[in-house]
Amino acid sequence: MIKEFFTQNEWLGINFSELPVELYSDKLPSAEFYSLFYRELDKKYIDLSQFPIEWLKIKLNTAHALSQFIPQEGSVLSYGCGLGIIEKYLIENFGVNKIEGIDFAFSPQVGYKNEKFQRIFSEEEISLKKYEVIYLSQVIYSLDDSEAISLLSFLSKSLKHNGKLIISYTSILSFENGSVLSQRFIIKLLGNKLTNICKRMFFGNSKKSGSQSWGYMRDNELTELIAKRAGFAELIFFSSAQQSFLICSKK
Ligand SMILES: C[S@@+](CC[C@H](N)C(=O)[O-])C[C@H]1O[C@@H](n2cnc3c(N)ncnc32)[C@H](O)[C@@H]1O
Repeated sequence: MIKEFFTQNEWLGINFSELPVELYSDKLPSAEFYSLFYRELDKKYIDLSQFPIEWLKIKLNTAHALSQFIPQEGSVLSYGCGLGIIEKYLIENFGVNKIEGIDFAFSPQVGYKNEKFQRIFSEEEISLKKYEVIYLSQVIYSLDDSEAISLLSFLSKSLKHNGKLIISYTSILSFENGSVLSQRFIIKLLGNKLTNICKRMFFGNSKKSGSQSWGYMRDNELTELIAKRAGFAELIFFSSAQQSFLICSKK
């Protein structure tokens, strides 16, 4: 099993050192961090067409992959939905009729708005419902193993009897995301690790380094173990949209 902790200096063109928040290279970002980040993102990108085209393509392909498992009329929850871009594609391109989304960083003003997409703001609301599909697109990287197990096991209680939980993430092993393990990828991974060690040596955990710890890259074996520990028994992997997908059922 392989796992790598990684840090990040920027995301989608927003430099973290410009955010009015303390950065930590040894502590995962808080809801406040993500909220400030999304506020900046909202200022930077007036509409969707301004986002990097490659990034949008991955979101569209992710929506396509998810759409195969999402009933058009069923009850669906996106946990950690962010801006709601995947939800926009699912609704507008793939005919999904209703999606609920939750994200610990969100205020009602930011992100995709559509009557078919309903944001919810409390986990308690989730615990009172039963969904056919719950998906987490690029979310579990932001949790350590025990937090991921608790979250998945909490969500499993809100699945219908035959419901499915779908996790999409970037595996640390690029062939598990459907691409060939390239020399460039290995060099980038080692380069990142070395940069992070140097930054920690020179700057400690202060804001000066401009780095924020971002989460964990795991391989499929470890992700499978996390899902099993959360009580899922039937697990199917596939790769699409340059990511790994894990479909989890309770039996
Ligand atoms: C990389 S974004 C993915 C957004 C969206 N699902 C997508 O694929 O475009 C990760 C999202 O997870 C949310 N997130 C991170 N940790 C979380 C937590 N502990 N609880 C709820 N949401 C969380 C962040 O606010 C962020 O919006």
